[in-house]
Formats: sequence, structure tokens, C-alpha cells
Amino acid sequence: MAKQGKIRVIKPCRRLEGEVTPPGDKSISHRAVILNSIASGEAEIGNFSSGKDCWSTVSCLRALGAEIRRSGTPDFPTLLISGVGEKGLTEPSNVLNAGNSATTMRLLGGLLSSQPFLSIITGDASLRSRPMGRLIEPLRLMGAEIWGRGKDSFAPLVIRGGKLHGAEISLSIPSAQIKSAILLAGLFAQGKTVLQQLVPSRDHTERLLRQMGAALESDGSLISLNPLTSPLKAISFTIPGDISSAAYFLVAGAVHPDARIMVRGCGFNPTRTGIIDALLAMGAKLRIKNERMSGNEPVADIVVESSKLRGIELGGEMIPRLIDEIPLLAVAGCFASGKTVIRDAAELRVKESDRIATVSRELTKMGAKIEELSDGMIIYGGKSLSGAEIESHLDHRLAMSLAIAGLIAKGETVINQAQVVNVSYPSFWSAVAELVPSEARELKQ
Ligand code: S3P
Repeated sequence: MAKQGKIRVIKPCRRLEGEVTPPGDKSISHRAVILNSIASGEAEIGNFSSGKDCWSTVSCLRALGAEIRRSGTPDFPTLLISGVGEKGLTEPSNVLNAGNSATTMRLLGGLLSSQPFLSIITGDASLRSRPMGRLIEPLRLMGAEIWGRGKDSFAPLVIRGGKLHGAEISLSIPSAQIKSAILLAGLFAQGKTVLQQLVPSRDHTERLLRQMGAALESDGSLISLNPLTSPLKAISFTIPGDISSAAYFLVAGAVHPDARIMVRGCGFNPTRTGIIDALLAMGAKLRIKNERMSGNEPVADIVVESSKLRGIELGGEMIPRLIDEIPLLAVAGCFASGKTVIRDAAELRVKESDRIATVSRELTKMGAKIEELSDGMIIYGGKSLSGAEIESHLDHRLAMSLAIAGLIAKGETVINQAQVVNVSYPSFWSAVAELVPSEARELKQ
């Protein structure tokens, strides 16, 4: 049976040149709208993510009584949020829908566990197959009443919000979503919440909470949070460009034989810049310019030029710093000399798709040689890729990574169900087209 959805045809191009301004960071956008919704005061958030995932968070918050207006342009929206204060959320009259967004479900799962009403939250088929036991277990340590389908393993989640108590929790999985869920619950708990993270993950929640006046201390691995004694202060700022979206063009520029791309306004938070470090270690010609701050988050412009890449080994603490960029690093590894080995990344198996399996399968169709490991993969570089008909597996990061491979492969690459890029980067295809005039085109099925 033919799959529903859009097809994109990517052709190789002789040159890649120009500028890209990535959409607002998805992780920061979720946090900025959630925290400002429960703050006191008005906030104006510029460059809110244009991706569907963040709009799932907005629609859930509106269903909970938050007042959020939208202005700006479709690619660079601005949100105007009137905070309802720490006691202002109300029981939703219907089931909340997080769509494809695990960040929406897990962060709101933490927040709603502390609110005095019942909520039910569901998502699309992909999200309903992703693990939620890792959210339910630590929240229950704080006294939360939260249940999930499949013996508390999967969404839909049912949450009877109520009084929580602080707890000492050690995070065995380096997940910023679970860490953030616990911190959101901890804002309303009685007593201190202490979190130990064995491997640090992205710290956007901690930065925002501190800036908004929460009593949070962190040394990177130990985080302690005291419950709110006064409401969070609303804050207005411009969200940096998403480094996970910028990464497609950093890799495209590095692996293409004739390229020069400038990425403007890219988030440069050290808990997210693993892709830069990995590309530099592979020999990529990257120049970091105009380092600055936007709100409490570092930002920079990055110039990339055609480079001769070599394979590297990646694992350990590096993995959470580039977890979403691993499918793309597999593409970079195909064009590098020697082997690229990725380990300690079993988390990839429970993302929007099993990314170890899907990226290996689809790149193999293009002629790549990849060996799957239980927690990563070995990419044997230096094989030339050829265009093929490939599947997105309804995974936005897979579709975009394969599109970059298609720009350099020989012949045409056809990507099925390519509309999935809208989850994080709706203007991805036009950003590609601007670097490659008339060489990326759309067909309808
Ligand atoms: C995210 C954390 C990561 C990442 C996801 C966004 C976040 O997930 O893969 O795309 O915004 O907190 P985990 O927390 O499951 O590692």
C-alpha cells in the first residue's frame, strides 16, 4: 500500500554557497513557553521554534488555561505570553495531545503531577511507543500519582496531580527531558529536590529557572532546587537558532567538495556543541565568529567550508552533547576517510525511530557500509554514495540527514514521507533550495 505523504527529490549539486539562519531552538522554545506560562507577568519570546513540536506544547498550555498569542512571521514567530502564575493552570476539559513531541509529554508530565487536577496526555503512534516508565518512576518517588498504558510504560498517561515532596533522585539515563520533568515537579513540591546526573545533559531548564528567580544550584552533575516561595518572574528574550537544525548545513558544507556556508545566530550552549567538537576532530574547516549571549544562552555565527574529513571514535560524555546529531554524523562518517565508531548511544533506539537501525538501513540503500552495534554503529567511510529511494520512517532528523547525503550522492535521491521535517524545521527544504537554486524540488504523491 502506498504511504501517504510528500516525496522530496534531491539531486546532487555542483556548489553549495550562501547563508542559513536556523529556526529558534526547539528545546529552549518548549522551556521558555512552559516556564513563562506559570510565571507572573508578560513575556515576549522572539524567534520561537517554527517546528510542530513546540506548537504541541503551546496548544497543551492553552488547554490548561495559559494565554499565549502569536505574532511575527511563520518562519520566525514571536510569542506573547501572559503568565497565569504558579497557581493559575486549570483542569483541561479534554485529553492533551503532545503530537510527536516527547519533550512536551515529559516536561508537562512533571509539571502536571504537581497541579491540583486530573490530566490525560497522549501523542501520535511514534510517541505512544516511546518509553515513559523513566518519567513515571522518578515522579512517583516524589509522591506523584501518574500511570501509563502497558504497566506504566507508555502513553497515554493519566495524572492525578497533587501534593509532592522533594526527593533525592539519581538519573541513570542522561536525559534532559526527565531531568526537566523532575525540576518542574520540584518547583511545587514540599522540600528540596536533589538530582544527581551521572552524565550531564542539556542545561536549558536550569539556566531559565535561575534567571526567572528559582532557588536552583548546579555544579553540572549535582542539581538542587528549593520549591517556589514566590512566583517565577516572566522573562522576554530571543531564542537562539537551533544548533541541531544548523548541524545539517555544517555537515553539508564540510562534506561537499565545493561549499562555503555561513550559519547565523546559532545556539552555542556547551551542553549542545558536541557536533562542533566532533566535526573539528574529524578535520572540518569551521570558524566560530561573533560569540555573544541571547538571554542566558550563548550564540555564535559559524562558517563552514569544504573539508577532508577523517573518521573518529565517539562515546561517553560526548553522546548527550550531540545525541540528536548522530544520524547526521553517520552521514559525515560515510564521506570521511577511515572508520567512524559511535558507542554509548543506545538511547538512539528509543527516539522518534530506532535511529541506529533506520539510519543504517537507509544509508546502506545508498551504498554506505555501516555495522550496527547494540549501542551505536561503525561507519566505514570513503565509499561513494548513490541516490536511492529511501524512507523517512516518520523521523524528522532521519529525513534531513538523508537529504544532506542526497546532495552529495551520485544521481537522484527520493525521500518518502518527507513532510516530517515540519516537526522541527518546516523551512528546511527552502533553506536547502537557497543554497542550491532549483536543485531540490518537491513532488506530490
Ligand atoms: C531534549 C532532550 C533529548 C533530545 C530531544 C530534546 C530536550 O532527549 O534527544 O530531542 O529538549 O530536553 P532525552 O532527554 O530523551 O535525551
